[in-house]
Amino acid sequence: MDATDQARAAAAVDEARQWDRLMRMAALGAIPGDGVNRACLTDLDRHARRLLIGWAQDLGLSVSVDRLANLFLRHEGTEPGLAPVLAGSHMDSQPNGGRFDGIWGVLAALEAVQALRQAGVATRRPIEVVAWTNEEGGRFAPGCMGSMAYAGYAPPETWDASTDTEGLTFGAELAKHLALEADIPRRPLGVVEGEAPFAYVEPHIEQGPRLEAEDLEIGVVTGIQGSRWFTVEVNGKSDHAGTAPLRLRKDAVQDAVRAITALNALMHDPEDVLRFTVARIEVSPNSSNSVAERVRFSIDFRHPDRTVLAERGDAIERVVQGAMTTCTAVVTERFNAAPITFDRMVRDSIEKAARAEGLGTLRLPSGAFHDAQFLSRICPSGMIFVPSRNGVSHHPSEYTGPAHLAAGARVLAAVLADLANR
Ligand code: GLV
Ligand code: MN
Ligand code: MN
Repeated sequence: MDATDQARAAAAVDEARQWDRLMRMAALGAIPGDGVNRACLTDLDRHARRLLIGWAQDLGLSVSVDRLANLFLRHEGTEPGLAPVLAGSHMDSQPNGGRFDGIWGVLAALEAVQALRQAGVATRRPIEVVAWTNEEGGRFAPGCMGSMAYAGYAPPETWDASTDTEGLTFGAELAKHLALEADIPRRPLGVVEGEAPFAYVEPHIEQGPRLEAEDLEIGVVTGIQGSRWFTVEVNGKSDHAGTAPLRLRKDAVQDAVRAITALNALMHDPEDVLRFTVARIEVSPNSSNSVAERVRFSIDFRHPDRTVLAERGDAIERVVQGAMTTCTAVVTERFNAAPITFDRMVRDSIEKAARAEGLGTLRLPSGAFHDAQFLSRICPSGMIFVPSRNGVSHHPSEYTGPAHLAAGARVLAAVLADLANR
Protein backbone atom coordinates (compact mmCIF):
# COMPACT_ATOMS: atom_id res chain seq x y z
CA MET A 1 0.00 0.00 0.00
CA ASP A 2 1.29 3.44 -0.91
CA ALA A 3 -0.09 6.09 1.43
CA THR A 4 0.77 8.87 -1.02
CA ASP A 5 -1.25 7.23 -3.80
CA GLN A 6 -4.16 6.80 -1.40
CA ALA A 7 -4.04 10.47 -0.41
CA ARG A 8 -3.78 11.58 -4.05
CA ALA A 9 -6.75 9.47 -5.06
CA ALA A 10 -8.81 10.80 -2.15
CA ALA A 11 -7.86 14.39 -2.98
CA ALA A 12 -9.21 14.00 -6.52
CA VAL A 13 -12.74 13.26 -5.29
CA ASP A 14 -14.99 16.05 -6.50
CA GLU A 15 -17.76 16.91 -4.02
CA ALA A 16 -19.80 18.98 -6.47
CA ARG A 17 -19.58 16.40 -9.27
CA GLN A 18 -20.79 13.61 -7.00
CA TRP A 19 -23.64 15.72 -5.61
CA ASP A 20 -24.70 16.82 -9.08
CA ARG A 21 -24.89 13.21 -10.27
CA LEU A 22 -26.85 12.23 -7.20
CA MET A 23 -29.37 15.01 -7.76
CA ARG A 24 -29.73 14.05 -11.42
CA MET A 25 -30.49 10.50 -10.33
CA ALA A 26 -32.94 11.81 -7.69
CA ALA A 27 -34.94 13.50 -10.47
CA LEU A 28 -35.70 10.04 -11.90
CA GLY A 29 -38.67 8.91 -9.85
CA ALA A 30 -38.90 12.07 -7.74
CA ILE A 31 -41.89 12.12 -5.36
CA PRO A 32 -43.13 14.91 -3.08
CA GLY A 33 -40.99 15.84 -0.09
CA ASP A 34 -37.66 15.24 -1.87
CA GLY A 35 -38.29 11.50 -2.06
CA VAL A 36 -37.69 8.92 -4.76
CA ASN A 37 -39.79 6.01 -5.98
CA ARG A 38 -37.68 4.10 -8.49
CA ALA A 39 -38.61 0.44 -8.43
CA CYS A 40 -36.34 -2.14 -10.02
CA LEU A 41 -36.80 -3.17 -13.67
CA THR A 42 -39.10 -0.23 -14.45
CA ASP A 43 -38.60 2.40 -17.16
CA LEU A 44 -37.30 4.76 -14.47
CA ASP A 45 -34.73 2.19 -13.37
CA ARG A 46 -33.65 1.73 -16.99
CA HIS A 47 -33.38 5.48 -17.44
CA ALA A 48 -31.17 5.72 -14.32
CA ARG A 49 -29.00 2.87 -15.53
CA ARG A 50 -28.53 4.52 -18.95
CA LEU A 51 -27.48 7.73 -17.21
CA LEU A 52 -24.91 5.80 -15.17
CA ILE A 53 -23.71 3.88 -18.22
CA GLY A 54 -23.24 7.16 -20.11
CA TRP A 55 -21.04 8.55 -17.33
CA ALA A 56 -19.06 5.32 -17.20
CA GLN A 57 -18.51 5.30 -20.96
CA ASP A 58 -17.38 8.93 -20.90
CA LEU A 59 -14.79 7.81 -18.38
CA GLY A 60 -13.66 4.90 -20.53
CA LEU A 61 -14.97 2.12 -18.26
CA SER A 62 -16.22 -1.06 -19.91
CA VAL A 63 -19.84 -1.90 -19.20
CA SER A 64 -21.42 -5.34 -18.88
CA VAL A 65 -24.54 -6.90 -17.46
CA ASP A 66 -25.27 -10.43 -16.19
CA ARG A 67 -28.46 -12.49 -16.44
CA LEU A 68 -29.82 -11.02 -13.20
CA ALA A 69 -29.25 -7.54 -14.69
CA ASN A 70 -26.46 -6.79 -12.22
CA LEU A 71 -24.53 -3.97 -13.90
CA PHE A 72 -20.71 -3.76 -13.91
CA LEU A 73 -18.47 -0.82 -14.92
CA ARG A 74 -14.88 -1.98 -15.16
CA HIS A 75 -11.73 0.05 -14.63
CA GLU A 76 -8.85 -2.04 -15.91
CA GLY A 77 -5.93 -2.93 -13.70
CA THR A 78 -2.29 -3.05 -14.78
CA GLU A 79 -2.59 -6.82 -14.24
CA PRO A 80 -6.02 -7.53 -15.77
CA GLY A 81 -5.86 -11.23 -14.94
CA LEU A 82 -6.01 -10.56 -11.19
CA ALA A 83 -9.26 -10.91 -9.28
CA PRO A 84 -11.03 -7.53 -9.24
CA VAL A 85 -12.06 -5.39 -6.31
CA LEU A 86 -15.80 -4.66 -6.47
CA ALA A 87 -17.45 -1.52 -5.07
CA GLY A 88 -21.03 -0.37 -5.31
CA SER A 89 -24.57 -0.88 -4.03
CA HIS A 90 -28.04 -0.72 -5.61
CA MET A 91 -30.06 1.74 -7.69
CA ASP A 92 -33.62 0.70 -6.84
CA SER A 93 -35.45 2.58 -4.08
CA GLN A 94 -38.20 2.00 -1.59
CA PRO A 95 -41.70 2.92 -2.89
CA ASN A 96 -41.70 5.93 -0.55
CA GLY A 97 -37.93 6.20 -0.41
CA GLY A 98 -35.20 8.80 -0.29
CA ARG A 99 -32.48 10.10 -2.59
CA PHE A 100 -29.51 8.33 -1.00
CA ASP A 101 -30.25 4.72 0.01
CA GLY A 102 -28.38 2.56 -2.48
CA ILE A 103 -27.74 4.99 -5.30
CA TRP A 104 -25.11 6.93 -3.34
CA GLY A 105 -23.03 3.74 -2.96
CA VAL A 106 -22.98 3.26 -6.74
CA LEU A 107 -22.17 6.91 -7.44
CA ALA A 108 -19.49 6.97 -4.71
CA ALA A 109 -17.83 3.99 -6.37
CA LEU A 110 -17.94 5.77 -9.74
CA GLU A 111 -16.57 8.95 -8.15
CA ALA A 112 -13.76 7.00 -6.45
CA VAL A 113 -12.77 5.31 -9.72
CA GLN A 114 -12.87 8.65 -11.54
CA ALA A 115 -10.68 10.14 -8.79
CA LEU A 116 -8.13 7.31 -9.13
CA ARG A 117 -7.96 7.82 -12.87
CA GLN A 118 -7.72 11.60 -12.63
CA ALA A 119 -4.98 11.38 -10.02
CA GLY A 120 -3.12 8.93 -12.26
CA VAL A 121 -3.12 6.28 -9.53
CA ALA A 122 -2.86 2.94 -11.31
CA THR A 123 -4.07 -0.23 -9.62
CA ARG A 124 -2.75 -3.73 -10.20
CA ARG A 125 -6.20 -5.23 -9.86
CA PRO A 126 -9.21 -4.21 -11.93
CA ILE A 127 -11.93 -2.33 -10.06
CA GLU A 128 -15.56 -2.99 -10.94
CA VAL A 129 -18.28 -0.55 -9.97
CA VAL A 130 -21.41 -2.64 -9.48
CA ALA A 131 -25.14 -1.95 -9.21
CA TRP A 132 -26.97 -5.00 -7.82
CA THR A 133 -30.51 -5.76 -9.01
CA ASN A 134 -33.48 -5.46 -6.66
CA GLU A 135 -31.86 -4.88 -3.29
CA GLU A 136 -34.92 -3.31 -1.72
CA GLY A 137 -37.45 -6.02 -2.45
CA GLY A 138 -40.09 -3.27 -2.68
CA ARG A 139 -41.50 -4.35 -6.03
CA PHE A 140 -40.54 -8.02 -6.03
CA ALA A 141 -39.86 -9.83 -2.73
CA PRO A 142 -37.37 -10.61 -1.42
CA GLY A 143 -34.58 -8.05 -1.60
CA CYS A 144 -30.94 -8.70 -2.57
CA MET A 145 -31.85 -10.94 -5.52
CA GLY A 146 -28.91 -9.77 -7.65
CA SER A 147 -26.29 -10.25 -4.97
CA MET A 148 -27.78 -13.55 -3.78
CA ALA A 149 -27.61 -14.97 -7.31
CA TYR A 150 -24.12 -13.56 -7.90
CA ALA A 151 -22.83 -15.11 -4.69
CA GLY A 152 -24.36 -18.49 -5.56
CA TYR A 153 -26.65 -18.30 -2.54
CA ALA A 154 -29.65 -19.27 -4.66
CA PRO A 155 -30.10 -20.27 -8.31
CA PRO A 156 -30.97 -17.33 -10.58
CA GLU A 157 -34.45 -18.64 -11.41
CA THR A 158 -35.44 -18.85 -7.72
CA TRP A 159 -37.55 -15.68 -7.82
CA ASP A 160 -39.02 -15.93 -11.34
CA ALA A 161 -42.57 -16.32 -10.01
CA SER A 162 -42.35 -13.43 -7.51
CA THR A 163 -45.10 -10.94 -8.46
CA ASP A 164 -45.52 -7.21 -8.05
CA THR A 165 -48.81 -5.56 -7.09
CA GLU A 166 -49.92 -5.59 -10.76
CA GLY A 167 -49.40 -9.35 -10.99
CA LEU A 168 -46.32 -9.03 -13.23
CA THR A 169 -43.65 -11.61 -12.50
CA PHE A 170 -40.00 -10.97 -11.81
CA GLY A 171 -39.01 -13.55 -14.43
CA ALA A 172 -41.01 -11.86 -17.20
CA GLU A 173 -39.97 -8.34 -16.21
CA LEU A 174 -36.32 -9.41 -16.07
CA ALA A 175 -36.52 -10.96 -19.54
CA LYS A 176 -38.12 -7.77 -20.91
CA HIS A 177 -35.47 -5.67 -19.20
CA LEU A 178 -32.57 -7.72 -20.56
CA ALA A 179 -34.01 -7.48 -24.07
CA LEU A 180 -34.04 -3.68 -23.69
CA GLU A 181 -30.38 -3.81 -22.66
CA ALA A 182 -29.38 -6.27 -25.39
CA ASP A 183 -26.84 -3.74 -26.70
CA ILE A 184 -24.84 -4.04 -23.47
CA PRO A 185 -22.25 -6.86 -23.45
CA ARG A 186 -23.39 -9.83 -21.39
CA ARG A 187 -21.14 -11.42 -18.80
CA PRO A 188 -21.57 -14.73 -17.00
CA LEU A 189 -23.37 -14.58 -13.67
CA GLY A 190 -21.29 -14.77 -10.53
CA VAL A 191 -17.87 -16.14 -9.86
CA VAL A 192 -16.24 -17.11 -13.15
CA GLU A 193 -13.79 -20.02 -13.26
CA GLY A 194 -13.62 -20.15 -9.47
CA GLU A 195 -12.14 -16.66 -9.33
CA ALA A 196 -14.05 -14.77 -6.63
CA PRO A 197 -13.53 -11.01 -6.34
CA PHE A 198 -10.52 -10.05 -4.24
CA ALA A 199 -12.78 -7.87 -2.07
CA TYR A 200 -16.11 -6.01 -2.05
CA VAL A 201 -16.66 -2.58 -0.51
CA GLU A 202 -20.12 -1.01 -0.19
CA PRO A 203 -20.57 2.65 0.74
CA HIS A 204 -24.02 3.41 2.19
CA ILE A 205 -25.83 5.94 4.34
CA GLU A 206 -26.03 4.75 7.95
CA GLN A 207 -29.86 4.78 8.11
CA GLY A 208 -29.57 5.17 11.87
CA PRO A 209 -28.69 7.98 14.31
CA ARG A 210 -25.31 7.02 15.75
CA LEU A 211 -22.78 8.84 13.55
CA GLU A 212 -24.74 12.08 13.71
CA ALA A 213 -25.22 11.80 17.48
CA GLU A 214 -21.48 11.32 18.00
CA ASP A 215 -20.54 13.92 15.38
CA LEU A 216 -18.38 11.42 13.47
CA GLU A 217 -18.01 11.21 9.70
CA ILE A 218 -17.31 7.56 8.92
CA GLY A 219 -18.86 4.33 10.14
CA VAL A 220 -16.67 1.25 9.87
CA VAL A 221 -19.31 -1.43 9.67
CA THR A 222 -18.54 -4.49 11.78
CA GLY A 223 -21.30 -6.75 10.48
CA ILE A 224 -25.00 -7.06 9.67
CA GLN A 225 -27.75 -8.60 11.74
CA GLY A 226 -29.76 -11.49 10.29
CA SER A 227 -33.14 -11.04 8.60
CA ARG A 228 -35.98 -13.40 7.80
CA TRP A 229 -39.03 -12.50 5.71
CA PHE A 230 -42.29 -14.40 5.64
CA THR A 231 -45.63 -14.00 3.93
CA VAL A 232 -48.75 -15.16 5.75
CA GLU A 233 -51.93 -15.83 3.81
CA VAL A 234 -55.12 -16.18 5.85
CA ASN A 235 -58.02 -17.71 3.93
CA GLY A 236 -61.65 -17.36 5.00
CA LYS A 237 -64.95 -16.65 3.23
CA SER A 238 -66.48 -13.44 2.00
CA ASP A 239 -69.99 -12.53 3.11
CA HIS A 240 -72.40 -9.62 3.47
CA ALA A 241 -71.34 -7.36 6.37
CA GLY A 242 -74.95 -6.50 7.21
CA THR A 243 -76.54 -9.90 7.06
CA ALA A 244 -74.05 -12.69 7.83
CA PRO A 245 -74.23 -13.63 11.56
CA LEU A 246 -70.81 -13.38 13.23
CA ARG A 247 -70.97 -17.00 14.40
CA LEU A 248 -71.22 -18.21 10.80
CA ARG A 249 -68.37 -16.10 9.43
CA LYS A 250 -64.87 -17.04 8.36
CA ASP A 251 -63.48 -13.54 8.63
CA ALA A 252 -59.88 -13.41 7.40
CA VAL A 253 -59.24 -9.97 8.96
CA GLN A 254 -60.24 -11.20 12.42
CA ASP A 255 -57.94 -14.23 12.26
CA ALA A 256 -55.10 -12.14 10.78
CA VAL A 257 -55.42 -9.72 13.72
CA ARG A 258 -55.25 -12.67 16.14
CA ALA A 259 -52.16 -13.98 14.35
CA ILE A 260 -50.39 -10.60 14.49
CA THR A 261 -51.22 -10.24 18.20
CA ALA A 262 -49.86 -13.73 18.91
CA LEU A 263 -46.72 -12.95 16.87
CA ASN A 264 -46.15 -9.78 18.88
CA ALA A 265 -46.13 -11.93 22.01
CA LEU A 266 -43.71 -14.42 20.40
CA MET A 267 -41.37 -11.59 19.36
CA HIS A 268 -41.51 -9.69 22.66
CA ASP A 269 -37.99 -8.64 23.66
CA PRO A 270 -37.49 -6.60 26.84
CA GLU A 271 -33.99 -5.67 25.60
CA ASP A 272 -35.45 -4.15 22.38
CA VAL A 273 -32.78 -5.80 20.22
CA LEU A 274 -35.19 -7.89 18.19
CA ARG A 275 -36.92 -6.21 15.24
CA PHE A 276 -40.37 -7.43 14.22
CA THR A 277 -42.41 -5.59 11.58
CA VAL A 278 -45.71 -6.23 9.84
CA ALA A 279 -45.97 -3.45 7.28
CA ARG A 280 -47.71 -4.77 4.21
CA ILE A 281 -51.29 -5.99 4.50
CA GLU A 282 -53.48 -6.85 1.53
CA VAL A 283 -57.15 -7.54 2.13
CA SER A 284 -59.48 -9.10 -0.37
CA PRO A 285 -62.00 -8.01 -1.54
CA ASN A 286 -61.07 -4.85 0.44
CA SER A 287 -64.59 -3.51 0.66
CA SER A 288 -65.93 -2.07 3.92
CA ASN A 289 -69.25 -3.91 3.73
CA SER A 290 -67.95 -7.33 2.63
CA VAL A 291 -66.37 -9.74 5.10
CA ALA A 292 -62.75 -10.34 4.04
CA GLU A 293 -62.10 -13.68 2.39
CA ARG A 294 -58.32 -13.32 2.28
CA VAL A 295 -55.60 -11.37 4.07
CA ARG A 296 -51.95 -11.48 3.11
CA PHE A 297 -49.40 -9.86 5.39
CA SER A 298 -45.64 -9.58 5.45
CA ILE A 299 -43.31 -10.34 8.36
CA ASP A 300 -39.85 -8.76 8.58
CA PHE A 301 -37.96 -10.27 11.53
CA ARG A 302 -34.34 -9.40 12.40
CA HIS A 303 -31.84 -10.20 15.12
CA PRO A 304 -28.04 -10.28 15.41
CA ASP A 305 -28.04 -13.71 17.08
CA ARG A 306 -28.53 -16.66 14.74
CA THR A 307 -30.02 -18.81 17.53
CA VAL A 308 -32.77 -16.28 18.23
CA LEU A 309 -33.39 -15.95 14.50
CA ALA A 310 -33.70 -19.71 14.15
CA GLU A 311 -35.83 -20.35 17.23
CA ARG A 312 -38.33 -17.51 16.94
CA GLY A 313 -38.39 -17.58 13.14
CA ASP A 314 -39.11 -21.30 13.13
CA ALA A 315 -41.93 -20.76 15.67
CA ILE A 316 -43.82 -18.34 13.40
CA GLU A 317 -45.70 -21.08 11.53
CA ARG A 318 -46.92 -22.74 14.77
CA VAL A 319 -47.98 -19.43 16.32
CA VAL A 320 -49.91 -18.36 13.21
CA GLN A 321 -51.66 -21.73 12.92
CA GLY A 322 -52.51 -21.62 16.65
CA ALA A 323 -54.18 -18.23 16.21
CA MET A 324 -56.65 -19.40 13.55
CA THR A 325 -60.24 -19.83 14.74
CA THR A 326 -62.32 -20.20 11.57
CA CYS A 327 -59.81 -19.61 8.77
CA THR A 328 -56.80 -21.49 7.45
CA ALA A 329 -53.32 -20.03 7.03
CA VAL A 330 -50.33 -20.63 4.79
CA VAL A 331 -46.95 -19.33 5.97
CA THR A 332 -44.16 -18.99 3.36
CA GLU A 333 -40.58 -18.01 4.08
CA ARG A 334 -39.29 -15.59 1.44
CA PHE A 335 -35.84 -14.54 2.66
CA ASN A 336 -33.26 -15.76 5.13
CA ALA A 337 -30.07 -13.75 5.50
CA ALA A 338 -27.78 -14.98 8.26
CA PRO A 339 -26.00 -12.47 10.50
CA ILE A 340 -22.47 -11.80 9.26
CA THR A 341 -19.23 -10.26 10.49
CA PHE A 342 -17.20 -8.24 8.02
CA ASP A 343 -13.64 -9.12 7.07
CA ARG A 344 -10.81 -7.63 9.10
CA MET A 345 -8.66 -6.68 6.09
CA VAL A 346 -11.44 -4.53 4.63
CA ARG A 347 -12.44 -3.03 7.99
CA ASP A 348 -8.84 -2.10 8.77
CA SER A 349 -8.36 -0.57 5.34
CA ILE A 350 -11.47 1.60 5.81
CA GLU A 351 -10.49 2.66 9.31
CA LYS A 352 -6.93 3.55 8.34
CA ALA A 353 -8.05 5.45 5.24
CA ALA A 354 -10.59 7.45 7.26
CA ARG A 355 -8.05 8.34 9.93
CA ALA A 356 -5.47 9.34 7.32
CA GLU A 357 -8.11 11.71 5.94
CA GLY A 358 -8.55 13.18 9.42
CA LEU A 359 -12.10 11.83 9.72
CA GLY A 360 -13.69 10.58 12.93
CA THR A 361 -14.67 6.91 12.84
CA LEU A 362 -17.07 4.68 14.68
CA ARG A 363 -17.26 0.89 14.49
CA LEU A 364 -20.89 -0.12 14.33
CA PRO A 365 -23.11 -2.96 13.13
CA SER A 366 -25.80 -2.54 10.48
CA GLY A 367 -29.46 -3.09 11.32
CA ALA A 368 -30.39 -2.86 7.63
CA PHE A 369 -29.50 -5.70 5.29
CA HIS A 370 -27.27 -5.00 2.31
CA ASP A 371 -25.86 -6.75 -0.75
CA ALA A 372 -22.56 -6.92 1.16
CA GLN A 373 -24.23 -9.54 3.39
CA PHE A 374 -24.18 -11.97 0.47
CA LEU A 375 -20.87 -10.87 -1.07
CA SER A 376 -19.26 -11.60 2.28
CA ARG A 377 -19.99 -15.29 1.62
CA ILE A 378 -17.57 -15.34 -1.31
CA CYS A 379 -14.96 -12.64 -0.70
CA PRO A 380 -13.60 -10.33 2.01
CA SER A 381 -16.24 -7.59 2.29
CA GLY A 382 -16.93 -4.43 4.22
CA MET A 383 -19.03 -1.28 4.32
CA ILE A 384 -18.44 2.45 4.76
CA PHE A 385 -21.28 4.35 6.44
CA VAL A 386 -21.85 8.12 6.36
CA PRO A 387 -24.24 9.96 8.72
CA SER A 388 -27.99 10.06 8.14
CA ARG A 389 -29.75 13.22 9.30
CA ASN A 390 -31.97 12.36 12.30
CA GLY A 391 -31.18 8.71 11.53
CA VAL A 392 -34.06 8.68 9.04
CA SER A 393 -34.19 6.36 6.04
CA HIS A 394 -36.73 4.55 3.83
CA HIS A 395 -38.51 7.90 3.76
CA PRO A 396 -38.40 10.98 1.50
CA SER A 397 -36.79 13.02 4.28
CA GLU A 398 -33.67 10.84 4.23
CA TYR A 399 -30.69 13.23 3.94
CA THR A 400 -26.91 13.27 3.97
CA GLY A 401 -25.12 16.47 2.96
CA PRO A 402 -22.58 16.81 0.14
CA ALA A 403 -19.59 17.18 2.48
CA HIS A 404 -20.35 13.93 4.32
CA LEU A 405 -20.88 12.12 1.02
CA ALA A 406 -17.61 13.48 -0.34
CA ALA A 407 -15.81 12.28 2.81
CA GLY A 408 -17.26 8.81 2.23
CA ALA A 409 -16.11 8.81 -1.41
CA ARG A 410 -12.62 9.97 -0.36
CA VAL A 411 -12.35 7.07 2.04
CA LEU A 412 -13.52 4.69 -0.68
CA ALA A 413 -10.98 6.06 -3.19
CA ALA A 414 -8.20 5.50 -0.65
CA VAL A 415 -9.49 2.02 0.20
CA LEU A 416 -9.59 1.07 -3.49
CA ALA A 417 -6.06 2.41 -4.00
CA ASP A 418 -5.05 0.15 -1.12
CA LEU A 419 -6.99 -3.08 -1.81
CA ALA A 420 -6.59 -3.03 -5.60
CA ASN A 421 -2.83 -2.83 -5.19
CA ARG A 422 -2.50 -5.83 -2.91
C1 GLV B 1 -32.83 -2.88 3.25
O1 GLV B 1 -33.28 -1.95 2.60
C2 GLV B 1 -33.41 -3.28 4.50
O2 GLV B 1 -34.65 -3.36 4.58
O3 GLV B 1 -32.66 -3.49 5.47
MN1 MN C 1 -29.77 0.24 0.60
MN1 MN D 1 -33.12 0.30 1.71
